[in-house]
Amino acid sequence: MSDNRPIGVFDSGVGGISVLGELIKLMPNEKYIYFGDSRNAPYGTKPHELVRELTFATASLLIQAECKCLVIACNTATAAAVRPLRELYPGVPVIGIEPAIKPAVLADPGGHVLVMATPVTLGEDKFHRLMAKYDRDALISTLACPGIVEFVEKGIVEGPELEAYLRNLLADYTSTPPDAVVLGCTHYPFVRDSISKVLGAYTKIYDGGGGTARETKRQLELHGLLASPEQEGGITLRNSNGSMIELSLKLLEIARKL
Ligand code: DGL
Repeated sequence: MSDNRPIGVFDSGVGGISVLGELIKLMPNEKYIYFGDSRNAPYGTKPHELVRELTFATASLLIQAECKCLVIACNTATAAAVRPLRELYPGVPVIGIEPAIKPAVLADPGGHVLVMATPVTLGEDKFHRLMAKYDRDALISTLACPGIVEFVEKGIVEGPELEAYLRNLLADYTSTPPDAVVLGCTHYPFVRDSISKVLGAYTKIYDGGGGTARETKRQLELHGLLASPEQEGGITLRNSNGSMIELSLKLLEIARKL
């Protein structure tokens, strides 16, 4: 069985393109529609109900565009809305993303793992349950990072202004750097090198993009929804703010090499 309809991937903005890059590497012959809601970004500092509403609106657009499955390439939207979204579309696989705490803890049992994410993600029950699963195996601390999303949405993924911001944000962690940092927001992989520069090479950095891509492939296989091997892959980039398409293309080039 095969299904050549597109995979719908979405985020509050351009960050989810880091997940799109992983999906393309793993399943190059699939067609993708990526929707970034940059007009409403950031989600991570908005009230829970509003994040849910915005997530539902984007999901509905992608369902209308005949997507065979939905990938929520946004930790914030996943934490706030994945469960009701699955209830709303029971016939459509809905794959979410969560901070990659598991691989970080498994690689450094007993170590210090710092989770960087948006305030909404860190406040959701879904995140607290995830943390509770692993907090006996490592010292897990969290850092809310409002502001990084705005840099990436402006196309700033390196340079002195971003580094000064990160230096200030991570000031408590530079003298004794953590063993691992988990990038719990899909915008953050684009600033991974700057985070690494601030914390130093000792700290390993994890993100959930690769795991989400593998889980998407597994779900498609399970439901007989993979594209036929001879299908040529394709990417359609859409955004609620039309002027973000140029930046989206630039980030897609970066994401393919991450
Ligand atoms: N990329 C979103 C995430 O993974 C960013 C949320 C935001 O817009 O604040 O959480």
